[in-house]
Amino acid sequence: MLTEKMEAALNAQIVMEAYASNLYLSMGAWCEQKGLEGCAKFMYRQSEEERSHMLKIFNYINETDGHALVPGIKEPLHKWESVRTMFESVYEHEKNVTKSINDLVRISYAENDHATLNFLQYYVEEQREEEALMRSILDKITLIGDGPQSLYFIDMEVEKINNLIPEEENE
Ligand code: FEO
Repeated sequence: MLTEKMEAALNAQIVMEAYASNLYLSMGAWCEQKGLEGCAKFMYRQSEEERSHMLKIFNYINETDGHALVPGIKEPLHKWESVRTMFESVYEHEKNVTKSINDLVRISYAENDHATLNFLQYYVEEQREEEALMRSILDKITLIGDGPQSLYFIDMEVEKINNLIPEEENE
C-alpha cells in the first residue's frame, strides 16, 4: 500500500513521462519534416518508450491500491533551431527526469516503502542508459558538425544507433 506522499510523487512522475512521450513525438514530426528519417525513427521510438515508462507507473500505482491519475499535458514545442539544439533539449529533459527519479527513491526510503524502492530500480537503470545514449549522440554531432552539409551524416549515425537497439527495449 502506498502512502499519500508516495502516491502523489508517483502521479507527478506520470506527468513527466507523458510529457516526454509527447515532446519526443513532436521532435519526430519535426525530424521527418526535415527529411531526417533516422532521427525521426529514433524520436518516435523514444516517444513509445516514454509512454511505456508512464504506463508502468500507472499500473504500479493501481496495483498497490492507489489511484493513477491521467494527466493533462502541456503542449510541447514543435520546432527546434537545429538538430543539435533538439538533442541538447532531450539531454536536458532526461537529466531532469533522473533528478525526479532520484527524488522518488529518496521518498521511498523516507516512507520505508521497500516495494516502491525496488520498483524504481528499473527507472534508475533506464535513466543511466538514456543519459549515456543522448551524450553519445551529442558527441557524434560535435565530431561531425551540424551545418547543412552534415545533416545527412548525423542522420546516418542515428540510424546506425536505431539498428543497434533491440525492438524489445520499447517494452
Ligand atoms: Fe522515462 Fe526518458 O524518461
